[in-house]
Amino acid sequence: MVWSRVTASRMVSYKRTMLMCTLGRRYFMTSGVRYGSSLVYSEYGDPEKVVQMTQQELPVVNSKQVLVKMLAATVNPADINTIQGVYAVKPSLPSIPGNEGIGEVLVLGKEAEDYFQPGDRVIPRLNAWGTWRTHAVADFTDLIKIPPDIALATGATIAVNPGTAYRMLKDFVPLKHGDTVIQNGANSAVGQAVIQIAAAWGLKTINVVRDRPSVMNLKQKLLDLGGTVVLTESEIRKSEELKAFPKPSLGLNCVSGKSGTEILRQLAPRGVMVTYGGMSRQPVTVPVGLLIFNDVALKGFWMTRWNKEHYNHPKRQEMLDDLFQLARDDLLQPPEHSLVPFDSYLVALKNAMPKDGMLGKKQILVF
Ligand SMILES: NC(=O)c1ccc[n+]([C@@H]2O[C@H](COP(=O)([O-])OP(=O)(O)OC[C@H]3O[C@@H](n4cnc5c(N)ncnc54)[C@H](OP(=O)(O)O)[C@@H]3O)[C@@H](O)[C@H]2O)c1
Repeated sequence: MVWSRVTASRMVSYKRTMLMCTLGRRYFMTSGVRYGSSLVYSEYGDPEKVVQMTQQELPVVNSKQVLVKMLAATVNPADINTIQGVYAVKPSLPSIPGNEGIGEVLVLGKEAEDYFQPGDRVIPRLNAWGTWRTHAVADFTDLIKIPPDIALATGATIAVNPGTAYRMLKDFVPLKHGDTVIQNGANSAVGQAVIQIAAAWGLKTINVVRDRPSVMNLKQKLLDLGGTVVLTESEIRKSEELKAFPKPSLGLNCVSGKSGTEILRQLAPRGVMVTYGGMSRQPVTVPVGLLIFNDVALKGFWMTRWNKEHYNHPKRQEMLDDLFQLARDDLLQPPEHSLVPFDSYLVALKNAMPKDGMLGKKQILVF
């Protein structure tokens, strides 16, 4: 990774000598050397405390590399949990956070010229690429070109969450037009993508959200996106509305804990629940009767693993092409979001970890 070539000591001495004269400039060139700015953390902990803005020298672009100027980068729960040190993957430190984002190619090495042009928009092929920085020098093989007509917020948010929704709807249970899928965390970015992709494919969705004071507004929003039914966690058990639907054979679990157990209870015999998140920070509990008498199955999904296993696989490009087409057809919108200037990253971090636990808009850093 490019970051590994930039040692902390170089950064510190660079900061000492140059900071005074470059204050406020996030990217600049002096004596033929390029400098960019990154968010970096050197210890795990509270993101608002451990993440800091730094400036560093960018490596010279070799023949296999490109210089990318970042345009927008998303703040996802996995980024926050990684910085906190509670995510499954712990990067070596210091590390630049950020799993997804969209950039623009500025400078190309010789071998990259067959694949990219200056001005092309790109997203990282790798997870944990470190998108929270103004510029990056990367191997061209680690980047995926995206069509120029894709809006910035869509490009910055399409790979992780809509990708997860797409794979979970496609890879676990054979679904046909008119079938029903149930999910919790339905207002998460993944949940909203599930609703929209499912609607575009002719699938019905039963969507479970947490109880909240203004739940009618949220319900209407998810129905407008294409959801079939939206229920709160306290409504699901006694809902008359659900009797109109055959039991779903696929359940998608973002929350785990009691909410995950409720999804399992709603499944058809031999139904499959795919767990992709643990937002409640509680384990999945499976009532014995559901295993014995209903033979329900538990599966997990992790986009990072899928991407590694399909690094250059045609299925990956096929998925992105499908998602871009849905976005073009206005069938897949990005989640509600705030565009936050890179310098105000602390605002983005604060909003991504609200004190009342109720998440608002997705935070997208813009450069
Ligand atoms: N496995 C994978 O490959 C994969 C890929 C993408 C995402 N994920 C995971 O999917 C989850 C959602 O990600 P996202 O980016 O879509 O999230 P997001 O847009 O930030 O939304 C977070 C969701 O979690 C809910 N939530 C937060 N705290 C909760 C709690 N204590 N109990 C119950 N629900 C809670 C929120 O509900 P409220 O609106 O009620 O607060 C909201 O629906 C995360 O766990 C993320 O790590 C996994």
